[in-house]
Formats: sequence, structure tokens, C-alpha cells
Amino acid sequence: MENTHGLASVAADIPSLAAQARAALGPPLSASEQSLLEQEITALLSAQNAVLVAHYYVNSQLQDLAEATGGYVADSLEMARLGLEHPASTVVVAGVRFMGETAKILSPEKRILLVESSAECSLDLNCPPEDFSTFCDQQPNRTVVVYANTSAAVKARADWVVTSSIALELIRDLTTQGEKLLWAPDKYLGDYIQKQTGADMLLWHASCIVHEEFKGEVLVNLKTQYPDAAVLVHPESPPSVIALADVVGSTGQLIQAAQDLEATLFIVATEEGILHKMRQSAPGKRFLEAPTAGAGATCESCAHCPWMKMNDLSRLAQALRHGTGEVLLDESVRAQAAIPIQRMLAYGRKHSGGR
Ligand code: 13P
Ligand code: SF4
Repeated sequence: MENTHGLASVAADIPSLAAQARAALGPPLSASEQSLLEQEITALLSAQNAVLVAHYYVNSQLQDLAEATGGYVADSLEMARLGLEHPASTVVVAGVRFMGETAKILSPEKRILLVESSAECSLDLNCPPEDFSTFCDQQPNRTVVVYANTSAAVKARADWVVTSSIALELIRDLTTQGEKLLWAPDKYLGDYIQKQTGADMLLWHASCIVHEEFKGEVLVNLKTQYPDAAVLVHPESPPSVIALADVVGSTGQLIQAAQDLEATLFIVATEEGILHKMRQSAPGKRFLEAPTAGAGATCESCAHCPWMKMNDLSRLAQALRHGTGEVLLDESVRAQAAIPIQRMLAYGRKHSGGR
């Protein structure tokens, strides 16, 4: 991987890691197996004073169970806030590793369990801390802003951490204050923010393997077929897809848009797990997945994040039975990484658009 600054970094073998994650998916459960596991998990959560916090991309069984047991389904910014504010002594994170790490960074006194500790994220994997640190050292006069989809060690090197729900607003403010920025790791989100704000940003060049597959050319055809459909796009998507959007936003913001817009038909360019919450919160409206293939193109991920899909009821029960997947961090890294995340949360509290 070659970054804009010419630093060659050691790229992780994302296709083979994603293939391993897909191969590790468990078989579908029968209705009685599902029901037994749900009962056991509910009892274990209660006995262990634990709360389940799930991301919108995990499967519908986990999303529903989180809400039925007093937990939450949320975007990554809300997951960070909820893990911090909830009184439970154990937070079980149904999502990917960086989400569990963020919870631990903010709540070191709590036990944080990941449903699946090998659930990665291609953005995190393609931003190795040592290379990133070299990138920062080369640009000492730039303010370092990193996306939440990064390791604790990368966050520890940052001035600010942002999620997609707050990134645009914060970077507009930093630019107004005359700051020059260094951004990592998502090149598409970085490009989108740069175009929207005119920020002086040096970009790291990683991408999300799921959003990268959405195809602008094929989306144009779908729009022609459904001219009344509104297009909702996550900003990790390529520029040709973002250019066709009616709304660009975080998972939480896209769900809100599905409720608020007058349209009754939507084309959704983000991971397909989000459709469950969209259908629940905007009943009567219809949702189509944006194309990841067609016109000769093929897809590997096909709008399914292989790591989010590793989260399932069997693994969740296992984590609670045996305390597997506990997130443990080096204390000096944790304490340093907490500073830019707390800064983001404080910024979000002051600015209403931060949700
Ligand atoms: P959100 O912050 O929008 O929930 O996104 C997290 C993510 O991993 C998107 O791919
Ligand atoms: Fe990472 Fe993409 Fe999966 Fe989100 S959808 S967790 S950015 S690989």
C-alpha cells in the first residue's frame, strides 16, 4: 500500500483474513436452538450485571436481543457513549475489535467482552501503528485526526478521534481555526470531508472492503429504474457513489433520514445489517440494497461485513459462559488513547449535530 506521502506500509492480507472470517461463520440455528440460547444469554447477562451493546451491522437476532435485555443497538459513536454511561459492570460488545477497544479505553474499570475477539475491520488492519507513527513524525506541524475504526495504539498517537457522525462538523471547525490536518485511515471518508470542507488534509490510503464495492455506474441505472427513490450512502463509499446520494451519513444518521424524509422508497449504500433497524423504525417504507455487482462487476463482500457477521448467539453465549473475548489493553496506551476520544465526546456534547 502506497500512501499519499510516499510511505510504503505493510498491508495486511485483507482478502485472506476476510475469507477466514467467512469460513468461520456458524451454521444457521433452528428455532428451538435460538430460543434456548436467548434464554441462557438473558439469564447470564442479568447474573453478571452485563449489558449488550450491538452495532447496526450485526445480525437481527443480536440486535433484537440487545434491545430485549435492556441493551442498545447503535452507531459507533453512540456505542462508545453508551458503554461509558451505562451502570453495568460488564459491557458485551457485538461489533468489531476497535469497538470493544474503544469501550475499554473509556471505561477501564469495567469488564469489556467482545462476542468475537477476531472480528477485525479492514481499515484498522491497514493502518499499522508503527507505520502510522512514522507518517505522523514526518508531519509534525499537522493536527492528527483518526477515524474510530483504528487500534488503540493508533488512537494514542492522535489529537482527535472522530466517527463518521461527527467528522464533517469537527473538521470544518478545525479548518476554520486554520489547522492543517493529517487524516487516517479511510481514504474515501477523507476525500469526502476534504471536498466538503476544503480542509488541508494529508490522507492515509486504506478503505473498507464492504463499502468499496458499491458501484456508482450501476447505481445510476437503479436510480433511473426507481426515480422516486432516495439514496442513502455511508461516507466510506467511493466518490462515484457519494455523488449520487441524497443523504450521506453515519449508520445512525442514515436510519434517522429513512424516518425523516418523505420518500417511501430508499436505495441504501451501506452494510445490509442496517436494513433491519430501518424497516423497524420506518414501517411501510421500502428499502433496496445499492448494487455491489452488475454490468460485469463482481463482489466479494456483497454488502456483508465478514467480521460483523461473525457475531452470533452461539459466540455470545460462549463469551458470557467463559469470559472469553475480554479486551485488555496496555495501560499507558489506553490512557493516551482516551484523550482524543474524550475530546470527541466533549465536542459532541457542545454541538447538537454531533449525534
Ligand atoms: P458508524 O460510525 O456509521 O456506525 O460506522 C461504523 C462502521 O464500521 C461503518 O462501516
Ligand atoms: Fe470495518 Fe467496513 Fe466492516 Fe465497518 S463494514 S467494520 S469499516 S470492514
